[in-house]
Amino acid sequence: MSAVSKTFHVTTFGCQMNEHDSERMKGMLVALGYAETAEQQEAELILFNTCSIREKADSRFISYLQLAASYKRRNPEIVIGVGGCWAQSVKEDVFRQFPYVDVAFGPGQVHKLAEFLTSDSLTAQGFFEFEGFTGHLPSARARDFQGWVQISAGCNMKCSYCIVPATRGRQVDRPLEELVAEVREMVDAGVAEVTLLGQNVNAYGRAVRGGSRSSFAALLHELDAIDGLRRVRYTSPHPQDMTEDVVRAHADLASVCPHMHLPLQSGSSRILKAMRRTYSRERFADRVALIREHNPDIALTTDIIIGFPGETEADFAETLEVCEEVGFDGAFTFIYSPRRETEAAELVGDFVPHEVSVERMDRLVEVVQRRALERSQRFVGRTLDVLVEGPSRTDPSRLRGRSGHGKTVNFSGLAEAGEIVPVQITGATSQTLAGEMSLLARALV
Ligand code: 5AD
Ligand code: SF4
Repeated sequence: MSAVSKTFHVTTFGCQMNEHDSERMKGMLVALGYAETAEQQEAELILFNTCSIREKADSRFISYLQLAASYKRRNPEIVIGVGGCWAQSVKEDVFRQFPYVDVAFGPGQVHKLAEFLTSDSLTAQGFFEFEGFTGHLPSARARDFQGWVQISAGCNMKCSYCIVPATRGRQVDRPLEELVAEVREMVDAGVAEVTLLGQNVNAYGRAVRGGSRSSFAALLHELDAIDGLRRVRYTSPHPQDMTEDVVRAHADLASVCPHMHLPLQSGSSRILKAMRRTYSRERFADRVALIREHNPDIALTTDIIIGFPGETEADFAETLEVCEEVGFDGAFTFIYSPRRETEAAELVGDFVPHEVSVERMDRLVEVVQRRALERSQRFVGRTLDVLVEGPSRTDPSRLRGRSGHGKTVNFSGLAEAGEIVPVQITGATSQTLAGEMSLLARALV
């Protein structure tokens, strides 16, 4: 049945790792002779790359899946595939719950999709081993000048709220030489900015399969030496492994962007312990001090969870205090969501009522945004290098791009997507900057 399917559509949920995996999925399908369609209704192969990090992600995906099922009722030739973390977390159950699904595969099993599509199988199949890196598959990059590089898969940490160790398995790192070669190829193909992806990127190097041990700082140094690579970003590091060599790499290496996304999760040492985050409030503050000592201008962003079981008003007040003290340039804030196969989901009692979490969220967002707005004022009057991404979303006569600090910049000027241009910053909100392309500075570049 599947061999006749020639058009495909992929819907991606969740994190940047999934965005990356979807690009690989698309690249692989194109190599198999499939063509992408913009409309899901027109596709003969409907794929979902799923996320399971919070309950909301599950429920959103299921409504999409039901829509795809309605297309399939009209045209039974349609093949429905479900990949990613949600698929991994329910495994074979997917076929019982959603009998119209033809193929399901975990995050390490994207390559098995090709095997399924080229076989004559008439029965539904699931692939849930942890083995493959999607890094080896061809990629269909969404933008020619930006690329993802998956440096490791899985996670060895045991954060008690997190489903990722269950869906993506133990950490496995790709050999350093292989990563350098891959980035070199990307740069030769026109990529100016790479984002290194891993669940715990700065633990890179200890679990290299088929290569010698290395370190995250060593990888940054090797990549910085690649001619033509303008920017290196990465996500997400863990505060536990934020060692001085990584901190120094930001200061010493021109390509490593002045931005670090360092997940705090909670400001209370008691809650951090229950979360099994392996650091205290003080240790986090100490890392921030080290980072800022070497990189006074760096942008720091974070993730915070509200309403973890047992979080009292006093614990939450500590999270607010840390946000005041650190002054993040931005934060993703989440209400705790119990996940199957996690330690925290087993905690009984002490649940924070949803209304309390919502009220705490409002207070947290107020502090985060106020501090982010204060922080972003430092850019006003400066000229920043901006990687042009395309027209501005709010005003198509202007351009949109990203500064090294990770800030979205809307500006007037003339430039092509993929160029890095100097922009004089004239205004700042908590999230975005506004400016004008500096023609004089450009002439000097
Ligand atoms: N509930 C709420 N937020 C979560 N995150 C991870 N697991 C959960 C959960 N069960 C958040 C963390 C992590 C980010 C990617 O998602 O803040 O850093
Ligand atoms: Fe989840 Fe913690 Fe691993 Fe991040 S470091 S993926 S939060 S277990």
